Amino acid sequence: MDTTCMATILFLLLLCHPYLSTADVIYRPVEHFTVNCGSDINFSVDGRNWTGDSNTKFLSESKDSVAAPAQIQSTTQGPYTYARLSYSQFTYSFPVTTQGPFFLRLFFYSTSYQMFDRSKAYFSVQAGPYTLLQHFNASLYADTDDDPGHHDTLFREYCIYLQHGESLNITFTPTTTDSYAFINGIEIVSMPSYLYYSNPNYTVLDDFIGLPQLVGQMNQVYIITNNVSLETKHRLNVGGAQISPSQDTGMLRAWDTDDKYLITDSGTSVDFIKKTNLSFVKTPNYTAPDQVYRTVRNIGLNPFKNLTWQFPVYSGFFYLLRLHFCQLNPEVQDPGNQIFYIFIQKLMAEGGADILMWSDNQKGVPVVKDYAVYIPGNREKVYLSLEMHPHPKSFIQDAQLNAIELFKINDTTGSLAEPNPDPLPKTLDKQIPEQKSSGTTRPLIAAIAGAVFGVVLLSFIVVFFITKCKQNVVVYKNQKDGTSRGGGSSSSLPTNLCRHFSIAEIRAATNNFDKLFVIGAGGFGDVYKGYIDDGSTPVAIKRLKPGSQQGLNEFMNEIEMLSKLRHVHLVSLIGYCYESNEMILVYDLMDRGTLRDHLYGTDNPPLSWNQRLQICIGAARGLHYLHTGAKQMIIHRDVKSTNILLDEKWVAKVSDFGLSRIGPMGSLMTHVSTQVKGSIGYLDPEYYKRQRLTEKSDVYSYGVVLLEVLCGRQPLLRMVEKPQVSLVDWAKHWYEKGSLGDIVDPALKGQIAPHCLRKFGEVALSCLLEDGTQRPSMNDVVGVLEFVLRLQLQNSANVNAVLESGGDYEDSSTEDMFSSTHTSVHASDYSNSSGFNSTTYGSKASDRLISELVFSEIKDPKGR
Ligand SMILES: *[C@@H]1O[C@H](CO)[C@@H](O)[C@H](O)[C@H]1NC(C)=O
Ligand SMILES: *[C@@H]1O[C@H](CO)[C@@H](O)[C@H](O)[C@H]1NC(C)=O
Ligand SMILES: *[C@@H]1O[C@H](CO)[C@@H](O)[C@H](O)[C@H]1NC(C)=O
Ligand SMILES: *[C@@H]1O[C@H](CO)[C@@H](O)[C@H](O)[C@H]1NC(C)=O
Ligand SMILES: *[C@@H]1O[C@H](CO)[C@@H](O)[C@H](O)[C@H]1NC(C)=O
Ligand SMILES: *[C@@H]1O[C@H](CO)[C@@H](O)[C@H](O)[C@H]1NC(C)=O
Ligand SMILES: *[C@@H]1O[C@H](CO)[C@@H](O)[C@H](O)[C@H]1NC(C)=O
Ligand SMILES: *[C@@H]1O[C@H](CO)[C@@H](O)[C@H](O)[C@H]1NC(C)=O
Ligand SMILES: *[C@@H]1O[C@H](CO)[C@@H](O)[C@H](O)[C@H]1NC(C)=O
Ligand SMILES: *[C@@H]1O[C@H](CO)[C@@H](O)[C@H](O)[C@H]1NC(C)=O
Repeated sequence: MDTTCMATILFLLLLCHPYLSTADVIYRPVEHFTVNCGSDINFSVDGRNWTGDSNTKFLSESKDSVAAPAQIQSTTQGPYTYARLSYSQFTYSFPVTTQGPFFLRLFFYSTSYQMFDRSKAYFSVQAGPYTLLQHFNASLYADTDDDPGHHDTLFREYCIYLQHGESLNITFTPTTTDSYAFINGIEIVSMPSYLYYSNPNYTVLDDFIGLPQLVGQMNQVYIITNNVSLETKHRLNVGGAQISPSQDTGMLRAWDTDDKYLITDSGTSVDFIKKTNLSFVKTPNYTAPDQVYRTVRNIGLNPFKNLTWQFPVYSGFFYLLRLHFCQLNPEVQDPGNQIFYIFIQKLMAEGGADILMWSDNQKGVPVVKDYAVYIPGNREKVYLSLEMHPHPKSFIQDAQLNAIELFKINDTTGSLAEPNPDPLPKTLDKQIPEQKSSGTTRPLIAAIAGAVFGVVLLSFIVVFFITKCKQNVVVYKNQKDGTSRGGGSSSSLPTNLCRHFSIAEIRAATNNFDKLFVIGAGGFGDVYKGYIDDGSTPVAIKRLKPGSQQGLNEFMNEIEMLSKLRHVHLVSLIGYCYESNEMILVYDLMDRGTLRDHLYGTDNPPLSWNQRLQICIGAARGLHYLHTGAKQMIIHRDVKSTNILLDEKWVAKVSDFGLSRIGPMGSLMTHVSTQVKGSIGYLDPEYYKRQRLTEKSDVYSYGVVLLEVLCGRQPLLRMVEKPQVSLVDWAKHWYEKGSLGDIVDPALKGQIAPHCLRKFGEVALSCLLEDGTQRPSMNDVVGVLEFVLRLQLQNSANVNAVLESGGDYEDSSTEDMFSSTHTSVHASDYSNSSGFNSTTYGSKASDRLISELVFSEIKDPKGR
């Protein structure tokens, strides 16, 4: 198992190699300043040559500024070892000599520096006439950062136009007398004249191409004049991997992945064989790196036929949205074959997007479309949405996109500043002191001494212990900034986040909590089926047992967290009710109940193998989102076939995430014990052996679900012979014998293609590896399962002959795989345009497997 796994990875690494090489630098900046502030150290990392500011004359006005080292070393590479800090204003002045647009990049690392307390950084930044940051609370931004990978570093990128001979002055001003301003790194790089700024020679009548269209206003354009500045909000390689600054076309732009912002299911394709050379005739070759145009996201198997992204933004600004397209799909032959709509903020931006038409019927021609949209409001946090749907008349019912860039445009006062984020809820403050020494140690000692209680008890206590450890960590993080901030966020419910229901509405929906309406019961209370909106919408209503003030805090915390988590494969929270001492959560109703209800011990007809695969992929995506899509990593902790629900269209949705913290603290013990008992058979052995809870525990539990799906039996059976008791051991045994087929659910006999079974078994067993670090990430799992589904679909469509004749790559040596088999898979996909789903191309699933599996390895080496 391990060796196949390694071989596969090696093989994928080999395949990916071309993508790892540094891109040819296409654009060479005329001017380039890269300053490591507060330091005299020069160093190079990721394409940047940092120069210590002590060696330069850039610091023009610095009466009281201090250079100081960070108290805690940053784990991120970059100019983060030292900072320039001051309690009074200081200015960097860059002697820029050319006229034109520049990137201005600011690098911050929010930590304490010598006498400078982390939480006291509070300042504004001005560059020329533009306010970049105002009353910027760096620690607050770092603490509420969406991306756990940033480790308290903050990065801002702006585009600014400089007139000839103008030096660029960047001024840092502390907001209050006891706060200070700081900066770790500044970079200024010139960019091509008309990359983002509009070419003044375009006139509205002449030529629409190249000028941003004002969304919602017919035939209006929005010109990016030299007197505006832009702030980069997102730059995303849609459907592809991250691209580091050194792999950009020479401007050191970083390209991120788009998964976090995507809310619909979709497919991705990678043009690996690069049969078609890209031809930059519609847009200059520095617009984006080659690989941006070779990875694409499309609608794929999504039955709703729509692709939707949502970007968190602040209202009261114009935004510039740039979409990058490139048609490489061999099935699209002529203009008109693939036409789709583009909606921005629900307003139609394109009624007939046709990439091939835009590129004058040439394949491999990158095209860029710019849109400007105003988001009305007064600096509220809202979402900017981008939706794509196939045109009903389109021959190919698909839409596709290669990259997204989103910029904020300065307001009329020249400001780009946003309000500080809301502080994180501090609900756990009060609970910890009460339970500190007594709570954490005693149960553990008891457990060690009383081993007689066995694994169940031990694991339950470990769960308890870990839960508490986690709380301590959270509190520590909050407390390092000082003491309580007043009732602020916790005294009011987050009404803007989701719908609020009155208790009267809830009573009407459930016939006054009629027992007949109960569809489930949990440790925290009953779940009712109800109807809202005058009976038109069925919902699931979870009524929590009445609780203490702390229960309330948890309840609010959950609402806040859950209403921000939105994903097709998570059961979504519709709203809540907090009235008359009732704490009630209202969810989407999942018509078809739990996955287990369709696997065994049921009268329901058995699910087909394809249905099962789709459900597994959906659930895996939901978990992947939980692990990576939110502010903090969320570990579900209770993945099992009864927590995977199915809607009427058989779409799998993960439920009960994060809810383990709901309920009064007093009942934590019983609650946790219920949870552990309920989930026995799914519990990660490492979790109780090594007392480490990581997201890989969810991967383990998910692996058990995969086996349940395959074998159609419970994880643990009591009344059977020893070797059969544990599904995991039983499956491992048969897998090692190479005859997993013998224990497949009889209802699936004849449905599973042999190579699919092998691959499925392999991924399931890799999820169940003893060592959590050896298990794949959920993202890897999604990739492999999509690959399996793809194989299965090909098999059903009877086009697998080519695949088979290419040999089974698991059995060949890595070099052979590289040279013959994989290429032949792609070649055959490209040449064989009939046969299966016409909306996908380029061996979608296997490419996704490669790009995502391997890139996740590379991006996050500690993931394994
Ligand atoms: C990019 O385009 C410019 C102008 O068309 C051309 O001179 C240059 O060779 C191209 N660079 C690459 C790497 O293709
Ligand atoms: C760092 O680079 C600057 C500018 O290139 C140079 O003047 C200085 O001597 C360098 N410092 C060190 C320690 O190499
Ligand atoms: C950094 O320095 C190296 C070596 O001097 C040079 O080759 C490279 O072009 C420099 N990179 C930038 C972005 O200036
Ligand atoms: C900035 O945020 C921190 C929390 O990270 C808080 O302790 C501090 O009071 C805030 N400063 C101001 C001036 O709001
Ligand atoms: C920038 O600052 C320098 C020195 O403080 C000053 O001489 C210069 O006029 C300033 N430039 C602009 C454009 O404000
Ligand atoms: C814009 O038009 C002016 C005057 O016709 C011309 O001199 C200039 O080169 C043009 N610029 C570009 C970028 O086409
Ligand atoms: C900015 O440029 C636009 C277009 O050239 C012009 O209408 C506007 O007056 C300018 N604003 C300022 C303050 O120069
Ligand atoms: C693509 O470009 C390479 C190198 O420039 C060239 O050798 C090859 O023939 C081109 N392929 C096609 C299909 O044009
Ligand atoms: C597109 O998908 C989203 C998320 O599934 C859904 O909310 C929206 O209604 C869909 N739009 C259309 C037009 O189907
Ligand atoms: C952006 O700021 C500049 C300088 O203050 C101003 O001239 C311009 O009008 C602003 N842009 C917008 C869209 O308000």
